[in-house]
Amino acid sequence: MDKIKNLALGTDHAAVEVRNKVKEYLQSIGYEVEDFGFFGNGSCDYPDYAVKVAESVVSKNSDKGILICGTGVGMSIAANKVKGVIAAVCWDEDTARLVAQHNGANILCLGSRTATVSELCHRIKIFLETPFEERHLKRIEKIKEIEKQQCQKG
Ligand code: RB5
Repeated sequence: MDKIKNLALGTDHAAVEVRNKVKEYLQSIGYEVEDFGFFGNGSCDYPDYAVKVAESVVSKNSDKGILICGTGVGMSIAANKVKGVIAAVCWDEDTARLVAQHNGANILCLGSRTATVSELCHRIKIFLETPFEERHLKRIEKIKEIEKQQCQKG
């Protein structure tokens, strides 16, 4: 596995409070973090931030992406619309490891309303440090093939 160095981070309003702490934590353990917001007050729409992080990852400006909304679900639905993205929600340490190992996720989605900041940070660390297992490649290739066929339909 190539060393992961650059991360793209995006949240909606439900994760504004945790975002700075997550960012500080990731920087403290040596990652470069590009922060795509949300930076405002009030509320925003999670797809706007999901697409920024997704595009950063598929264009290889970032090695991996981290998206946080209230549950992680909205972010994952939106990010997975971008060709080349495998965005996965994790809800504990095991799923954080398995989405890297089995699903080859390039974006991890987390729910700010479902865990403490320290739990979120720990899950992100596990995700980033877990290599993909090649034996699962054939399933990822099938997902890519579905994506290719569906995109051709327009
Ligand atoms: C915003 O209230 C909430 O819907 C959003 O953060 C997210 O949980 C959607 O999946």
